Amino acid sequence: MRDFALFMGQILRRPGQVVALAPSSRALCAEMTEGLDPAKGPVIELGAGTGVITQAILDRGIAPAALHTIEMNPEFHAHLQARFPSVHHHKMSAGDVGDLDLSEVQAVISGLPLLSMPLALQRGILGGSFAQLAQDGRYVQFTYGPKPPVARALRDEMELEWRISAKIWRNIPPARVYRFFRQSTAQ
Ligand SMILES: C[S@@+](CC[C@H](N)C(=O)[O-])C[C@H]1O[C@@H](n2cnc3c(N)ncnc32)[C@H](O)[C@@H]1O
Repeated sequence: MRDFALFMGQILRRPGQVVALAPSSRALCAEMTEGLDPAKGPVIELGAGTGVITQAILDRGIAPAALHTIEMNPEFHAHLQARFPSVHHHKMSAGDVGDLDLSEVQAVISGLPLLSMPLALQRGILGGSFAQLAQDGRYVQFTYGPKPPVARALRDEMELEWRISAKIWRNIPPARVYRFFRQSTAQ
């Protein structure tokens, strides 16, 4: 309940950054983290908020030391540090994800309001994420809207392919999950 109150408070204080009606539901978190493999490389989570997806990633068996969250909101960042002390938390913009010193990342899981961001920031986020990802790695992004959650110009530029989940009705609002891959590595 404290997490929910914190989330709601930040929606009011920073609506342009949070851009959601409520934290992601259990059903959406399960779809976002589907297929994560504890035997593979590290995982990066973008826009972790109060940590609902963070918890789901850990529930998939990913070791806390193999998980890196990026969250620019100082209140959320402090909350994540207190809630998951063994996870690596980075208080920075997701646009700088390429600066992390990691390799063979298996997945970037994004809770960011990507489509509401300027194209240059989207380019930094997607470009940096794919620089971190293993050749067969994936960028996972949910969206509430009918269109792919990455700008078309960027999808073309980066030659991305994607798979789309079924609509998750048990989320407010209902959402779909997109998994983006480098061309010809889509699984
Ligand atoms: C829609 S909320 C998602 C929170 C949580 N992951 C969930 O699914 O409930 C978006 C989150 O992205 C964060 N955020 C927005 N822009 C960001 C940026 N450029 N870099 C890092 N975090 C950002 C916000 O602070 C917020 O926590």
